[in-house]
Amino acid sequence: TFLNRRTLLAGGGLLLGAACTRRFATPDQAGTLPIPRLLDARDHGQRIGLRAQEGETTFFPGRRSATMGYNGSYLGPTLRVHRGDDVTVTVSNNLSADTTVHWHGLLVPGELDGSPHQTISPGETWRPTLPIRQPAATLFYHSHAHGQTAEQVYAGLAGLLFVTDEEEQGLGLPSDYGVDDLPILIQDRQFVDGRLVLPAGMMVALDGRRGNVILVNGAYNPRADVPGSLVRLRLVNGSNARTYDLSFSDGRAFYWIGTEGGLLEKSVELQSLPLASGQRAEILVDFSDGRPVSLVSAPDQSTLRMHGMSMMHRHEASENNAGNETVLTFSPRLASSKRGSTTLPLLLASRAVPDPATVVARRRLVLNMRLGGMMDSDEEPLTINHRRFDMDRIDEEVELGAVEIWKVSGQKMAHPFHIHGVHFDVLSRDGEEPDLLDQGPRDTIVVDEPVELLIRFDQPASKAPFLFHCHILEHEDEGMMGQFSVT
Ligand code: C2O
Ligand code: CU
Ligand code: CU
Repeated sequence: TFLNRRTLLAGGGLLLGAACTRRFATPDQAGTLPIPRLLDARDHGQRIGLRAQEGETTFFPGRRSATMGYNGSYLGPTLRVHRGDDVTVTVSNNLSADTTVHWHGLLVPGELDGSPHQTISPGETWRPTLPIRQPAATLFYHSHAHGQTAEQVYAGLAGLLFVTDEEEQGLGLPSDYGVDDLPILIQDRQFVDGRLVLPAGMMVALDGRRGNVILVNGAYNPRADVPGSLVRLRLVNGSNARTYDLSFSDGRAFYWIGTEGGLLEKSVELQSLPLASGQRAEILVDFSDGRPVSLVSAPDQSTLRMHGMSMMHRHEASENNAGNETVLTFSPRLASSKRGSTTLPLLLASRAVPDPATVVARRRLVLNMRLGGMMDSDEEPLTINHRRFDMDRIDEEVELGAVEIWKVSGQKMAHPFHIHGVHFDVLSRDGEEPDLLDQGPRDTIVVDEPVELLIRFDQPASKAPFLFHCHILEHEDEGMMGQFSVT
């Protein structure tokens, strides 16, 4: 529940306020980009071990923060699995709280999904065998502990999961992990005097936890040494709530090649790309001019609509964020060796989109946000179709193999909507053709105006249901989540 709703409301001035700003001195640059260890299931006999644990992490010199991680103190290794394989993951819980590990974007049956229905108690182990049957994609894994997802992810329980296949390997895309194929897990976090703190209060309930520092793979403003060639960036927004609007400091164009569900059919040349919590994108960037350049984001802004008014809330990230904020800086080596690719494949992946003529059901979901609920404890503030998440209630029943259209809209603000166990296509946005940026196989999409999603349900969820929810993790934990069976 909200931390004392009445008291928080009394401080309602915070809504527009600057009170979220905290100043502290940060070094200009933390060092080189940390590259999480790569665990390729094929190098380990299809067995991977993950241990959720508590630890201490030094984000800023001389300042230690209490954190959580997998096989380490913050975040986890990058897991690489191959299409066609069956991979057994042994997840042990060394925390003092319940946890789960959800494979966000992985298409596996409900009982393997890592939702709160597969809770791992402290000292216990969960050992799912995951059948990998989907095209190459950049996925991620994170805690989905019941009511504790936001806090556990914030503390560090997240990592990347790559699916690869022969089709992808045949394209000649940059794929030397940590060299020209970089994992970029972006998260904002709140630091006070160089130590990680957990924001709480009314703004957190409304807007989700946001922070004054952007971390990449757990480091503040790191530098990545890259070859002077085309480099592939696997961008993952692992923030609790924030949406980034990413571009390069010199305005250079880049090629968008993949979304949550995998590669696009053709690359798309862009100069900026928005990425909401839970979303992923793969891009190719040309560094052959040898010039240092930064990946930057527009300032964090969210707009809340209340009583017919729009209130823009600007979250200040640091003392100098009049303009863009730096996410990380690339320092290319001049193209001396022939290492790395320089040409862009024209066609990427082909994919069968379900035929809208085969649709057997339509459903309507509204992500409800009632600000009155902050005052009146009888009214639930964050729900879907006015129902707060209940683990014992199945909200929707879907037939295995069915193609459906889900029309989803949001209230009061834009919400990143995520569905487990499927990848979908955007059919329309606000009754019109979808945006250029809506294309591709998706699992998380921003909804505000109604969006129609075309979905085929190929994974069974009979032993345990799948979830759908807002990926602002605080909204999810507070009840903006539902579940469905697939039988
Ligand atoms: Cu990434 Cu149900 O979440
Ligand atoms: Cu998910
Ligand atoms: Cu939301």
